Amino acid sequence: MKAGFYQYCPVFGKTEENLRRVLSAVRDTDADLLVLPEFFATGYQFVSREEVAGLSEKIPDGQTTQALSALSQKKNLHIVAGLPEKAGEQFYNSAVLTGPDGFIGVYRKTHLFFEEKLFFSPGDTGFQVWDTVIGRIGIMICFDWYFPESMRTLALMGADVVAHPSNLVLPHCPNSMPVLCRENRVYAVTANRIGQETRKEGPPLRFIGQSQITAPDGTILVRALADNEALLTLDIDPAVARNKAVTSLNNLFEDRRPEMYRIISENRILR
Ligand code: ACM
Repeated sequence: MKAGFYQYCPVFGKTEENLRRVLSAVRDTDADLLVLPEFFATGYQFVSREEVAGLSEKIPDGQTTQALSALSQKKNLHIVAGLPEKAGEQFYNSAVLTGPDGFIGVYRKTHLFFEEKLFFSPGDTGFQVWDTVIGRIGIMICFDWYFPESMRTLALMGADVVAHPSNLVLPHCPNSMPVLCRENRVYAVTANRIGQETRKEGPPLRFIGQSQITAPDGTILVRALADNEALLTLDIDPAVARNKAVTSLNNLFEDRRPEMYRIISENRILR
């Protein structure tokens, strides 16, 4: 599977302009899976619910999902991309998966970050893995990485590759992904954005770039720079992610003892 990401700086609120820019950037790319950032065509720093309402789209009928589906069909390409979703009275921080036959599915971000909590509802889809012709693709969105349960759930659901649309502002993710991938023996494609947004009082939100592809053994296969646009792809082998053997006597999944960590699936904290 040839997998990759596109890292760039969208202009806030200019969905059509950003979409055109992305479509043009990936026009000559030859890949099986392309991951785009969180909120890749709208920008990130919403300042009101009205603004969110104006820029959110229905999935799959909105223009962004339609454009991605058409691109997938034209280029025989799977795409994972983040966008604000309008669903009835709710708004979600969502990511869609499209493929050669068009729209495949949507994931709604489970763990909202910072002021996303002011405008978006916590995702209600749960983590999802799609079994496609190129491999099993799971999705988590940006801050989901901070909760090891996210990647673990996707791995237990059979993901070979975790597509990870992001708008990272804290510095820790790029160096944490190797541990998460090794703990779960999965690939991850983190697609982050670059640039900054200053849409309200206070310090600007600076996005850290450094999109990367991480292997199941924790190797960083490729990492983009912090402030440059980048379209990078490389060959990965989903079969590697399906081998969960650690030694001849240890298996990452078969050796688990869920009865010893039952509290993880409970909503309580012991102090
Ligand atoms: C993030 O979840 N956008 C940091």
